[in-house]
Amino acid sequence: MKLLSFYQDRSLRVAKAQGQYVWDENGRRYLDLHIGNGVAFLGHRHPKVVEALKEQMNQVMTLSTAFQTQIRESMLRELDNVKPEGMDNVFLLNSGAEAVELGLKIARKVTGRRKFIAFRNSFHGRTAGSLSVTWNRKYREPFEPLLEPVEFLPFNDVEALKAVDQTTAAVVVEPIQGEGGVIPATHDFMRALREVTEKNGTLLILDEVQTGWRTGKVWAYQHFGIVPDVLTAGKAIGGGFPVSAVFLPDWIREKLDEGDHGTTYGGNPLAAAAVAASCRVLREENVVERTESMGAEFMRSLAKLKERKSVREIRGMGLMIGIDIRLNPGPAIKQMQDEGVIALKAGSTVIRFLAPYLIDKDDINVAVAAAEKGISFTEAKFSP
Ligand SMILES: Cc1ncc(COP(=O)(O)O)c(C=O)c1O
Repeated sequence: MKLLSFYQDRSLRVAKAQGQYVWDENGRRYLDLHIGNGVAFLGHRHPKVVEALKEQMNQVMTLSTAFQTQIRESMLRELDNVKPEGMDNVFLLNSGAEAVELGLKIARKVTGRRKFIAFRNSFHGRTAGSLSVTWNRKYREPFEPLLEPVEFLPFNDVEALKAVDQTTAAVVVEPIQGEGGVIPATHDFMRALREVTEKNGTLLILDEVQTGWRTGKVWAYQHFGIVPDVLTAGKAIGGGFPVSAVFLPDWIREKLDEGDHGTTYGGNPLAAAAVAASCRVLREENVVERTESMGAEFMRSLAKLKERKSVREIRGMGLMIGIDIRLNPGPAIKQMQDEGVIALKAGSTVIRFLAPYLIDKDDINVAVAAAEKGISFTEAKFSP
């Protein structure tokens, strides 16, 4: 039997993972700034998450949300501390794409409209609905027709927002485009977007599957002084366990009926235990504050790379950081891995770091040195 993977093979067999590190089968340690596409933000196998999962496994492992069980109540109490403003309802799913999918369904149900607006360079997932609002043609075209109509506007372009009108069910947006190249939204853009969606009765769906918890606030939207109508989350919130969530205010919940959606695994007791424990870690270990200070430290340390001729820009928020280079980042990322630092690609020119919150100054020095080596290797080999 062969495992089908649609990702390029990274040529690394991982035998163990703990905190911000993974080890290969020969015992070599790597600093992990990939963390399973951004999942292990609290560190690999955080002891409180592992303990909560073990405990839950000894009680109830699987149970439909048609039944009640204590761990879901504990999770809801923990979520009260991290929920987006005004959003007292949460629906749990298993992946980011599923959360976006539900966000789109809700927008159609609530507004009675069909059209969606998304942005160039967006990434929202690979199920039919979430793929419809994902920009990259290479991902979309073989599977069209997908959901229609979808209009893609230039990101961070306030003028372009005129396209939002009373036929638009929802605008879906990442506050920092992740996969598209670590591109933060501007304040003006997010505020204009909130204004135009409100004016037209259009739902604003913030996709925080990647940005959630890692930008120096609990949710990235808090940097912009706006509040969305629907918020999708995933990756970090389960501390390594596969789980995603859609957060909603009461006025939207009231417009949804039994049977509008469903899921076999969504909200299962193990996921609930993982989310509850992860929220506890967020609260007890000053994760947000540390993310802000370590993110600033990482940015300061990376700044010296700006002098290199191939480096166009270094940008990001908190511990979600990208180095935009004028070359294909693939060889630099490969070289960095040989140096013991695992990063990932974003867009076609960006070396992306999704660092776990517990990285320290030594880790940052190691990451910056590896990035410098990777970039100079790429410059020497590939510059015209
Ligand atoms: C912003 C955003 N939305 C949705 C997704 C899809 O998440 P998943 O791969 O868990 O389906 C991703 C994944 O990278 C993402 O970054």
